[in-house]
Amino acid sequence: MSNTPQARAAAARAPEPIESERIALKARKVSFSWETTPLHWIPEDPFTTHTINVLHLLLPAGERWFVHVYKQVLPYIKDEQLRADVIGFIGQEAMHSQAHDEVLPHLREQGLDPTPYTAQVDWLFEKLLGDRTLPPGKARKWWLMERVAIIAAIEHYTAFLGNWVLNADELDKQGADPTMLDLLRWHGAEEVEHRSVAFELFMHVDGGYARRVRTWATAFSALVFLWQRGARFFMENDPTLTDGRATWRDFHSKGRQGVLPSTGAMVRSIPRYLHRAYHPSQEGSTAQAVAYLASSPAALAAEAREKGAA
Ligand SMILES: [Fe+2]
Ligand SMILES: [Fe+2]
Repeated sequence: MSNTPQARAAAARAPEPIESERIALKARKVSFSWETTPLHWIPEDPFTTHTINVLHLLLPAGERWFVHVYKQVLPYIKDEQLRADVIGFIGQEAMHSQAHDEVLPHLREQGLDPTPYTAQVDWLFEKLLGDRTLPPGKARKWWLMERVAIIAAIEHYTAFLGNWVLNADELDKQGADPTMLDLLRWHGAEEVEHRSVAFELFMHVDGGYARRVRTWATAFSALVFLWQRGARFFMENDPTLTDGRATWRDFHSKGRQGVLPSTGAMVRSIPRYLHRAYHPSQEGSTAQAVAYLASSPAALAAEAREKGAA
């Protein structure tokens, strides 16, 4: 809890967030139509397309799980500003989960049924990381705090990816599908907008450094494992490929080309999260995220619908 000596010591070491990076969070009720998006939405680059497509497999269940966990942690929040941020975060993540889920029927129509993979991801989030049958009290609270810390670690990476995709001009140069780019950048921009919430929540309700390190290791290993399995799944099941493979070599070379995050940038992000003075507001730019959202076709259409309905 926030009043333990460990939590107080951790809080004392953590820097103040950069205030100018703070913003009130709101969910944008976007919708995308996928009819014209080709299977390989980065032309002639199935590997990069599918590596990014893994997001559509992980995020629907993953972000639903964030929402499920955060609803349970609300009673532990003693700070009204943080509570408002967490509620805004819940609204945004629920919408992200839905938007990625809506890509899956389009993949099925193109002969790529992701069900064998998503069934495993659903099991992971709903059963392995679910509530478990724990008695009320210490064990139940320990498991809740563990999951809050896991979410903070995952959000370090969603912010990293959000910041990356907002700046990944190479995707435009390669002629990536504009609707898919808008989905990724709308989502990425909201990840940058709310990048401090999960970490601040973790620091508020627990903040233990050993837990931060332990849950980072869990989250990072799980993400790497799930991502490479997802990319392999897509490459092996893509009906247009006869010998589809996903290798680390491809990943490195696409990172160098700029159509995926570079391996070096990913490795350098690790010590930043584990640094005792880390705060997510030090990474990425709220101004850039807000600027993208002000021009995103999906976000603008959502705003127009909202105004029309008002
Ligand atoms: Fe999200
Ligand atoms: Fe997020």
